[in-house]
Amino acid sequence: MSSHLMNTYNRLPVAFTHGKGAWLYGDDGNAYLDALAGIAVNGLGHAHPRLVRALADQVGKLIHTSNVYRVREQEALADRICALSDMDEVFFANSGSEANEGALKLVRFYGHKHGNPEAQTIVMEHAWHGRTLATLAATGSEKARKGFDPLPSGFIRVPYNDLAAIERVAAQDGRVQAVWLEVLQGEGGIRVAERDYVRALRRLCDERGWLLMIDEVQSGIGRTGKWFGYQWADIRPDVITLAKGLGSGVPIGAVVARGRAAGVLGPGNHGSTFGGGPLACRAGLETLAIVEEENLMANAAAQGERIRAGFARELAGVPGVVAIRGQGLMIGIELDRPCGDLVKRALDAKLLINVTQERVIRLLPPLVIDAHEADEIVARLAPLVRAFLAEAAPRAT
Ligand SMILES: Cc1ncc(COP(=O)(O)O)c(C=O)c1O
Repeated sequence: MSSHLMNTYNRLPVAFTHGKGAWLYGDDGNAYLDALAGIAVNGLGHAHPRLVRALADQVGKLIHTSNVYRVREQEALADRICALSDMDEVFFANSGSEANEGALKLVRFYGHKHGNPEAQTIVMEHAWHGRTLATLAATGSEKARKGFDPLPSGFIRVPYNDLAAIERVAAQDGRVQAVWLEVLQGEGGIRVAERDYVRALRRLCDERGWLLMIDEVQSGIGRTGKWFGYQWADIRPDVITLAKGLGSGVPIGAVVARGRAAGVLGPGNHGSTFGGGPLACRAGLETLAIVEEENLMANAAAQGERIRAGFARELAGVPGVVAIRGQGLMIGIELDRPCGDLVKRALDAKLLINVTQERVIRLLPPLVIDAHEADEIVARLAPLVRAFLAEAAPRAT
C-alpha cells in the first residue's frame, strides 16, 4: 500500500482490474460478486456496453468547456431530470456533498430573500449528508463530526419518523426555513421513512412556508424501484439532491428545485468549474436512458424483494438477527452486535458488502443483477451471518 496516500480509509486488501455487470475481477485473479456497487454508484453494473460507447464518443468530442458557455448536454440532462421528478430546474455539481452544499445555500438565500436571515434547517438523527463542513454539521453521526468544530450553525436535529418532534420545534423557533431528510436513510442503517410521515411533512412545510428538501443521493435513480424514493409517498418536494447513481461512476451531483424554491439563485450566487460538464452530463443522460429502456427500476424492485425474502428464509429464527429491511436494492440486515468483521469474511467468500452503523449489513447491488445473482448473494452471505452469530457473544452493554 502506498505510504503517500493520506490515511483516511480502512481499505480491504484487494484492487480490481476490470468488471462486467455485477462482477468485479481482482488483481488476485478472483471474480467477486458486487453487492455494493461502489456504494450505490454503479447502478448499471460495470462496463455497461452502451455507457462505454457513449462515454468514448463523448470523450472524443468534448470533455469540458465551461459554464460561461451553454452546455447542450447539461441542458438536456436538466430537462430529463425535471421531466422524471416533476421539478423545475437543476444546478449541477460534482458529488453528493457538493449538491447538498448547494441545497443549503439555496435555503439560506431563500431565507434572506423572505425576511428570515437566520434560516434554520431541521435535520434528522442518523442522517448522512456528506463530509464538507456544512453537510457534516447536518449529518447525524457524532463519530463523523467529532474533532471538526467549529462547524457551521443553522441546524436543528430531531428524531427520524417523529412528526411531533418537528411540531415542537416549529412552536419554539420562528427561524425554521426547511426540513431536510433522506426518505430512506442509507449510511444511517437502511431506515425507511413512513409514508404518512413524509406526507405530513409535506403538509407542515406548506402550512409554514418551509422548504421540504429530500436527499436522494443514495436512494435516487431507480434504486428503490422508482426514480426517486419520495415518489413512494406520492409527494413533490421543493428541493432534491442527486449524485451517486446519476453518473454511473463519472462524478456528478445535482440540486433540483421546484415552485417557490426555483428561481431563488441567480448569476453570481452559486457556481462550479466542473459542474455539469459535457462528459458527466452525457453519463447522466445515458444512465437515465438505460435505466428506463432496460426496465431497471422494476428489476430493482423484484430483485430487492427476492433478496429480502431469501434472507428472511435463510435467517429465520436465527438468534441475533434483529431485522431485515429496505426498499428495492437498498437492503439492510440488522444484527444485535457489531459485525464489521463480516465485510472481510464476505470478501473471502468473493462477495462485496458493507456494514454501516456497526450492526447493519448493507447491500446495494447494481440495478442490473439477475435472479441468479440475487440468489447467489443470499447463498454466499447467509451462512457467514449464521456462523458469525453462532460464535460471537453479544457485547454486554
Ligand atoms: C444520502 C447521502 N447524501 C450525501 C452523501 C455524500 O455524497 P458524496 O460522498 O458524493 O459527497 C452520501 C454519501 O454516502 C449519502 O448517502
